[in-house]
Amino acid sequence: MQTVKVEIPQAESRYYPIFIGNNLLETAGSLIKDYIKANKLLVVSNKTVSGLFGEKLKNSLEKEGFNTEFLLLEDGEQYKNVDSLQKIWTKAIELKLERKDAMVALGGGVIGDVTGFGAATYLRGTDFIQIPTTLLAQVDSSVGGKVAINHPLGKNLTGNFYQPKAVIADISTLSSLPVRELRVGLAEVLKYGFIEKSCGLQKRLDTSFIEFLKGNKDLITSLEPSITGQMVKYCCELKASVVNQDEKEAGLRAILNFGHTIGHAIEKCYGYKGINHGEAVAIGMRGAFFLAKGKQLISEKYFNSCIELLDKYEMGYKTDKNISPDELYKAMQVDKKIRAGKIRFILPVNISEVGVFSDITEQEVINSLETLY
Ligand code: NAD
Ligand code: GLY
Repeated sequence: MQTVKVEIPQAESRYYPIFIGNNLLETAGSLIKDYIKANKLLVVSNKTVSGLFGEKLKNSLEKEGFNTEFLLLEDGEQYKNVDSLQKIWTKAIELKLERKDAMVALGGGVIGDVTGFGAATYLRGTDFIQIPTTLLAQVDSSVGGKVAINHPLGKNLTGNFYQPKAVIADISTLSSLPVRELRVGLAEVLKYGFIEKSCGLQKRLDTSFIEFLKGNKDLITSLEPSITGQMVKYCCELKASVVNQDEKEAGLRAILNFGHTIGHAIEKCYGYKGINHGEAVAIGMRGAFFLAKGKQLISEKYFNSCIELLDKYEMGYKTDKNISPDELYKAMQVDKKIRAGKIRFILPVNISEVGVFSDITEQEVINSLETLY
């Protein structure tokens, strides 16, 4: 097992661990017991994930004396909404969960985000543990404390910054992931390759992360345990470095949204159905590269090598032809990333480096969107 320590200078508990390794669910109870004071745990999951890992987790938590109850939500991004949040609050009230008790998110980013928001708001804050079971959740959503639900008018528009007390990333849970879900997690992994140098991590891999991803594609896509562990750990280190410097997205943290300005607009125009977050982000990253090339922020050579990497990982997703570039542009205008009415884009400016831009014209955006069909 490896541990990444997340340090948040302003948070109530300054440090929390991310445990990364194989078969960690079996020891989940003993891994978390030093980080919470709970007697009762409310595990929030869905039928798919609970059917795979619920019993193993329950046994491990009960072995350590935790009184463990489950709430199963519907499975899907469209359920990352206020109804699911209400179900979490209701269950917590029925169970008489106290403030010192804890909620545990067992699942992907949807479960993590809505459970985290439930934990942040129930009794004005109860402890929270993340047990991410998708690659996307292990490398991104379970780390850094962003919790949220969607609104019909936009993605993640209501939420909070609420750090977990511990995160358990059990790599072996990934082996049951459908290929489609694995690939969307890989979209967020590639994102780290494109932003690596901007994350400000002092100790890096021997090679650049882009080279690591190029060289280990077969081992990564077959989830070879050692390489997968190394990759998840490095992504968590990069994210922890950014969150350490800017927990509440006053500046630097925006770089984690590379590909998300277009991505969120696509998700919204699809009504959060038929496309998932990572697929939308993969299209969004491609759009960001086209925008940057159009503005001559990056060389043709770097542009081609990044598009090649996206293609190598089969990220050739296209936008539905029934959604026009104009519609997408309108969707971008209701987004958290808007500042003073201007849409902000995170664009590549150099190898593995990105910058934040608010001066992109509507025509430049439309031109790049037209390449995504
Ligand atoms: P998801 O939570 O919908 O999970 C994808 C699917 O995989 C679901 O059907 C789920 O039931 C299933 N699943 C989960 N684990 C499984 C396993 N081990 N084996 C088999 N099936 C499994 O989607 P996701 O991609 O994990 O997360 C996407 C969400 O994360 C979006 O809502 C996005 O906005 C959010 N997100 C949040 C942050 C953050 O910082 N909070 C960052 C990135 C993304
Ligand atoms: N996924 C974006 C962030 O955590 O800030």
